[in-house]
Amino acid sequence: MIFISRSLIPEPVKIELMSTNSNGASFYVTTPIFYVNDAPHIGHAYTEAAADVLARWHRQRGEDSFLLTGTDEHGEKVLRTAAANKVSPKDWTDKLVHDAWLPLLETIDIDNQDFIRTTEERHEVNVQKFMQKLYDSGFIYQGSFKGAYCVGCEEYKNKADLVDGTGEFEGQDVCAIHSKPVEQLEENNYFFKLSEFEQPLLDFYEQNPNFIQPESAKNEVVSFVRRGLEDLSISRSKEKFDWGIDIPWDDSHITYVWFDALLNYITAIGYGQDEAEFEKRWPATVQIVGKDILRFHAVIWPAMLMAAEIKPPQQIFGHGWLLVGGEKMSKSKLTGIAPNQITDIFGSDAFRYYFMSAIAFGSDGSFSWEDLSARYQAELANGFGNLASRSLAMVRKYFDGVIPTPSDYTEIDKQVIKVALDAVTNSDRAMDEVAIHEAINSVWTLVDELNGYITSQEPWVLAKDEANRARLETVLYVCSEGLRVLSVLLAPVIPKATAKLWAALTEGKLGELAVQPLSEAGNWGQLLPGITVSELEVLFPRIEAETAS
Ligand code: ME8
Ligand code: MG
Repeated sequence: MIFISRSLIPEPVKIELMSTNSNGASFYVTTPIFYVNDAPHIGHAYTEAAADVLARWHRQRGEDSFLLTGTDEHGEKVLRTAAANKVSPKDWTDKLVHDAWLPLLETIDIDNQDFIRTTEERHEVNVQKFMQKLYDSGFIYQGSFKGAYCVGCEEYKNKADLVDGTGEFEGQDVCAIHSKPVEQLEENNYFFKLSEFEQPLLDFYEQNPNFIQPESAKNEVVSFVRRGLEDLSISRSKEKFDWGIDIPWDDSHITYVWFDALLNYITAIGYGQDEAEFEKRWPATVQIVGKDILRFHAVIWPAMLMAAEIKPPQQIFGHGWLLVGGEKMSKSKLTGIAPNQITDIFGSDAFRYYFMSAIAFGSDGSFSWEDLSARYQAELANGFGNLASRSLAMVRKYFDGVIPTPSDYTEIDKQVIKVALDAVTNSDRAMDEVAIHEAINSVWTLVDELNGYITSQEPWVLAKDEANRARLETVLYVCSEGLRVLSVLLAPVIPKATAKLWAALTEGKLGELAVQPLSEAGNWGQLLPGITVSELEVLFPRIEAETAS
């Protein structure tokens, strides 16, 4: 083996092999907290995956990135399901959280920093502090409520939210979302002066044009608020049910489940308890929600915070729905597909990659097994996986596994280097805009470029003639270094495959994948010639058609 002196190789950019990769910036992303009336389906997993990809991306940039998720456990909907199953709501939620919701995070490889349950004391106590503060400052008053309520939505409904029932519900008003009859409530409740925030909200939207994204979601919310806001009933009488957080000044009432739930985003990070932690994390950088619950997050939530003199989050992003037969996949309509039905066959990386790349984030998308299988095969197995395995196999075959030293770069090589640099810049910019699919598309330009490069450079032909040795060295260095760039860029999306590739490619010589600064990933020449690559297992194995359908 030839020893390669450091002075002969292209100067790598200086990267410090730190144990952390912190650049001081902080990133706080949340998912909705999900109702534990049933087990999760791929719609919930979709939101989790998106938030996790963003969180990992920012962590890879060196930011102090914090992902919060959790469960929404109070309210009539959860209570009724527990009752139907003949267990107490506490036993029901404990069981579902442990048997279904926490395991979901494993199933799709979520690296969350916290998981909050609304039945935890750290939440309940501080929800009461918040409520008391609003009550003391005059934003809450007692009144009487008469109107419709949908337990499926846990939402008070106006006439405009209802449609005529059909079939067994002929002649009744049903919820447009759940297609089930609403209930008529008549209660003495506490109200939040939401109407006072109409103008402050409109001003806030105008001053913070990125607060609601995507643009279509923003327009919908702005016109909703312009039509006028009514005060919101934020308590329920215990005469009806008591599965909720007591109103601190009146224990004959519990807190309306949405008022309780929204506060999870601040109780989890120390609101009312640990001011330093709260100051450090809040306001959240981006809160990811499905468009079904956009109004709660873009109207009620910032108004609650304004009333408490707390800054609203920087952004609410309302993503689209996974559709089945043209309709939103849902627990109540029994159209859910369990995430592990997909991961058992394709693995968690493929789950994450597929949903994040195949659907424009912010738009609806129809799931199909055919599309998933086709993209898995074309993009992950043949596109990326094969690029990695054949590049490393050639380094092993022609250079005993030792990464060769490149010599003069030709225009073709320089084109690869440029595509790599652009892939970093463009994907990073897209992630800032929460355009996850665009970011992945930008990364894929490098996958395609490298595959084209191998086809045109034909290293197996170069290998036949000793006179082409130097050229072969350059070509395989370019491939290997390109894989280094791809490992860093794809780590947030397909963490398992990139960890395997990184281990095989770098022999531990560049430090952990997690500490490779994303913004510098495009600086060419970091992979050191002389490193010995090891054998790479097949990253995305072939899947038999029968199992996949
Ligand atoms: O609304 N496509 O909880 P929830 C995409 N507890 N995403 C989907 C989806 C689909 N077909 N179905 C569900 C609640 N989701 C409240 C939230 S937050 C303070 C309280 C995802 O269990 C999407 O993120 O009904 C949607 O907004 C969420 O699950 C609703 O979950
Ligand atoms: Mg729902």
